[in-house]
Amino acid sequence: MSTDDTTTETGESASNCGAATTSESACGASGSSDSSPSCGASESTEERVGSTVDDFDADPGKLTAVGLGPGEPEGMTERATAALGDAEHIVGYTTYIDLIPDDVTDDAEEIYDTPMCGEVSRTEEAVDRALAGNDVAIVGSGDPNVYALAGLALEIVESKGATASALDFEVVPGVPAAQSCGARLGAPLVNDSVSVSLSDHLTPMPEIESRLHAVAGEGFTIAIYNPWSRKRRENFRKACEILLAHRDEDTPVGIVHGASRDDEEVEITTLGELESYGETDLVDMTTTVVVGNEDTYVFDGRMVTPRGYETKYDY
Ligand SMILES: C[S@@+](CC[C@H](N)C(=O)[O-])C[C@H]1O[C@@H](n2cnc3c(N)ncnc32)[C@H](O)[C@@H]1O
Repeated sequence: MSTDDTTTETGESASNCGAATTSESACGASGSSDSSPSCGASESTEERVGSTVDDFDADPGKLTAVGLGPGEPEGMTERATAALGDAEHIVGYTTYIDLIPDDVTDDAEEIYDTPMCGEVSRTEEAVDRALAGNDVAIVGSGDPNVYALAGLALEIVESKGATASALDFEVVPGVPAAQSCGARLGAPLVNDSVSVSLSDHLTPMPEIESRLHAVAGEGFTIAIYNPWSRKRRENFRKACEILLAHRDEDTPVGIVHGASRDDEEVEITTLGELESYGETDLVDMTTTVVVGNEDTYVFDGRMVTPRGYETKYDY
């Protein structure tokens, strides 16, 4: 995932192209089945939904949002592997497509990956291909329900006047980053926990700040997604300040960069030290930060958040 200043909520570069301008397309509104780049969203630089359900003559295919998990092939569920094996077209951000083993995608007729296009035009491309009669999988890292494209896909289906049932829309879950990273850190998420994204691409920073105050004040273990980018230095600094207003500076914090990927790095530190990591390679847009609650401690290099058994049982 890029750390570019133009990165968006999904960690991608902001769109400067239409959905079908960077890759061949077999999708076609009104029966077109050539590789014309006019498929999907318009070729303009804006991300907006173009065709509607009435532009398609074919019986719709199936649309599946597939979560790939953290990155390693073994981290994909069997269901995700099967869904990709069944898909005629696979659509996704190039970084995510590259995570899929070749033998899983061998049977796909087309893989549509876009390094530069935005998530709206790419998701529309997936919807249009399904409306044109193809069985389509749209893929993303982790789980499609966690800061990802499952919701956007349904919103676009609705905005086109289509229905989820007609597309037999399905979400195939994947292991979210919080859980993959939690596993690398030991057992930090065993009690009540929440996720907060520091990306202000779609949520204004004041709202993120107020959410962070609320959850830090309530004592949840917090998984922080999208913690840092060059243009979001201030978001990370502000988040550290808010967390320190509610929690002790000795609170254990786990930092996991690239869980299950070649550049994986794991470190356990304290809340007092967290801000200093904002300028290191450890914290970027492929990092998840797990902030312990008041009971979290470090045992033999692992974070532990007790579930509460110790209050009822002797061991
Ligand atoms: C737009 S969110 C996508 C989340 C994804 N749908 C999920 O369920 O994990 C992108 C953020 O997820 C986190 N992330 C994704 N993959 C990661 C990995 N392998 N290791 C650590 N964090 C990861 C990072 O915080 C990144 O900025």
